Amino acid sequence: MEAIVSLAKRRGFVFQSSEIYGGYNGFFDFGPLGIELKKNIRDCWWDDMVRRRDDVVGIETSIIMHPKVWEASGHVGGFTDPLVDCKVSKQRFRADQLFFAAVVVDDTTHGYVSALESEDTTADLQAAAEKVKRKQALQGTLAPVIAQEFTEATPEQIPLIPSPATGEPGSLTPPRDFNMMFDTNVGALRDGSSKSYLRPETAQGMFVDFKNVVDTGRVKLPFGIAQIGKSFRNEITPRNFIFRSREFEQMEMEYFIHEDADWETAHKDWIQWCWDWLVSIGLPESHLSLFDHEKAKLAFYSRGTTDIMFKYPFGVQELWGIAARGNYDLTQHANASGKPQEIFDEETKKKFVPHVIEPAVGVDRIFLAVLAAAYAEEEVTDDKGKTDIRTVLRLSPRIAPVKVAVLPLLKKKEELTTRAKALYKKLQRRYACFYDETGAIGRRYRRQDEIGTPWCVTIDFETIEGEGDTFTLRERDSMAQRRVTEQELLALLDEQVY
Ligand code: GAP
Repeated sequence: MEAIVSLAKRRGFVFQSSEIYGGYNGFFDFGPLGIELKKNIRDCWWDDMVRRRDDVVGIETSIIMHPKVWEASGHVGGFTDPLVDCKVSKQRFRADQLFFAAVVVDDTTHGYVSALESEDTTADLQAAAEKVKRKQALQGTLAPVIAQEFTEATPEQIPLIPSPATGEPGSLTPPRDFNMMFDTNVGALRDGSSKSYLRPETAQGMFVDFKNVVDTGRVKLPFGIAQIGKSFRNEITPRNFIFRSREFEQMEMEYFIHEDADWETAHKDWIQWCWDWLVSIGLPESHLSLFDHEKAKLAFYSRGTTDIMFKYPFGVQELWGIAARGNYDLTQHANASGKPQEIFDEETKKKFVPHVIEPAVGVDRIFLAVLAAAYAEEEVTDDKGKTDIRTVLRLSPRIAPVKVAVLPLLKKKEELTTRAKALYKKLQRRYACFYDETGAIGRRYRRQDEIGTPWCVTIDFETIEGEGDTFTLRERDSMAQRRVTEQELLALLDEQVY
């Protein structure tokens, strides 16, 4: 993870927000390469989800919506995380990410230990329990710890559980609900009547505009409405770089189906679609898995939610949630606004409220996943037998920020630079390219490897002196080189960058 964060900063992918003021926790900036990568992720999703499908249309709704939207959706009342305060350190924790365990020696409890969720929380708690045993010079056998979420702690246990900030018990408060919506005021008055919210998800835009799309868009069930845009959540503990931040970008789609349709098949089909799409942008299947949420823990209206999980460097975590939400959202908005959100069934001649399948994913989480999966350090040996470590980002050509680098072999040879610039200008019309004429060719290749450029094209003496106007094409992953014509290069790019 450290290597990825360091590369992201060094090569201009991701910066801390407001870094010169010490940064701002939970907010990030995307640099010149980062924004290209992010745009490519968004564009691939939009092309595959909207443009290349006949049953999905796109919209863009405002970030600040009528506050009644968030009352009807349930966010004002229930978009909360359980918050725990440490009264001594003033730090705050999410109770469902804070774990504790009893220190049990020969069947007797000798206090508690705590740890924040990690890749192996139980191991952390076990190590802490062993430390307590040593410190208190307890004789006997320490039982294996049983990790429990702080949300499960009894009122008697809470004062005995040490704060992860101080290591001492007595300072943690019982969990309380903390609403994660950022609020603001709209208009000149700053009172309760002007209170509004930054959206915590893009999804409600699709529900609120459902009728507008139906009435204007010539859509017929089943159909989807998709949107890409910023969402804001006042996360208690933003962490793991851009994985959980306070301002992030979502790509969501609401797929409306008939109330009598086989929702389970539709749900499964969308899980498969999302999985295949992640593979199409280069995520290895070995890093992906599915997690079905327990029915008992779902909201009452939810029929089923499956997450596509990704093996991040800090553990397996949710990447994409695919939820079957029944007709809850449209019904809520119909009731709250007094405007029916129904569709007329030509067959039965009856009106009904469609049900929905919702695949919802964060652009930033995909960004981090592709960086983590693509990052490699490998030992390479040059033609003089010298070994070296090569850092390479094996990004799919679909999303690589630079598709091709054009490199004249020598900067001072005008014939080479003229031909190289002509090729560069031509490629630049369709692809993000990079022109680099400084430094040894091997070093130039390495610079491109590190930012994930799939191909380098070198304009060399054979280009200008040989027959057929060919270039050396060097592939990032295999480092293999071959000669290609301009036509062959364009055909390769056309096939691989889509
Ligand atoms: N409309 C449903 C919804 O918003 P969610 O599981 O809360 O569901 C969907 O969010 C996706 O948005 C997540 O799977 C994740 O990829 C992304 N996401 C959620 N919270 C995030 C955060 N704080 N930082 C970055 N991405 C986040």
